[in-house]
Amino acid sequence: MNNKIINFIKKKNKSKIISLTAYSKNIASIIDKHCDLVLVGDSLGSVLYSFSSTKKVTLDMMIEHSKSVRMGVKKSLMVVDMPHNTYRNPKEALRNAKKIISKTKCDAIKLEGGKKVVRIIKTLIKNKIPVMGHLGLLPQSAKNFKFKGKETTERKIILRDSKLLEEAGVFSIVLECIESSLAKEITKTVKVPTIGIGASVYCDGQILVTDDLIGLNKIKARFVKKYSNIEKQINDAVLNYKKDVVANKFPTKKHSY
Ligand code: KIV
Repeated sequence: MNNKIINFIKKKNKSKIISLTAYSKNIASIIDKHCDLVLVGDSLGSVLYSFSSTKKVTLDMMIEHSKSVRMGVKKSLMVVDMPHNTYRNPKEALRNAKKIISKTKCDAIKLEGGKKVVRIIKTLIKNKIPVMGHLGLLPQSAKNFKFKGKETTERKIILRDSKLLEEAGVFSIVLECIESSLAKEITKTVKVPTIGIGASVYCDGQILVTDDLIGLNKIKARFVKKYSNIEKQINDAVLNYKKDVVANKFPTKKHSY
């Protein structure tokens, strides 16, 4: 395990871990200053490309966006999502994870699932590829977007999976849309940091999709808090530009050669 990952794990029980998504350099370079982890999430499929699910996101899309993000991330841990159907067996996962790492120079990859992906995770880790797990709501395979952990059987499976992922060697686990007391129990049980999204304050850290946080993506989900209305700011800027052009106030001499 490299030092960056070791230091990341050490944050558990010490300080809250701040994580956000980025899909391009400009946003990445702003959030990098304040984050411990920047994730190139496959949520880019719905956020940027209006796909109905993340299933249509390809390896090439993830790689191209990650190359851009890499230019903006200087200090945070940079993690890239392995998209749907790129880790169906250990051999395929290893080939694609190696491609992501070599082309994007990211620090780690993230993949979704519990027991089913343990063998895959072990293979990647054996090959020195740091892996972040993802439990709870799994957008790549979800049939609905309901929160997880209401029923006893489901709770037991998610808790068991968190232990299996830890044993397999993941350095952290994203908990997505998980009932609060279950997220608390998992966080107490596993030694690696849990990063919550819709999974209560009890996780070791939090992650949000940056476009949701800044008000650029129109999403109505209980777990999202909009910290700014960037859509309005862009709209106002564009309107002012348009007014100036129409009134011949732009470009002025200062902007001309
Ligand atoms: O794809 C993504 O952005 C994610 C986060 C929401 C955790 O997996």
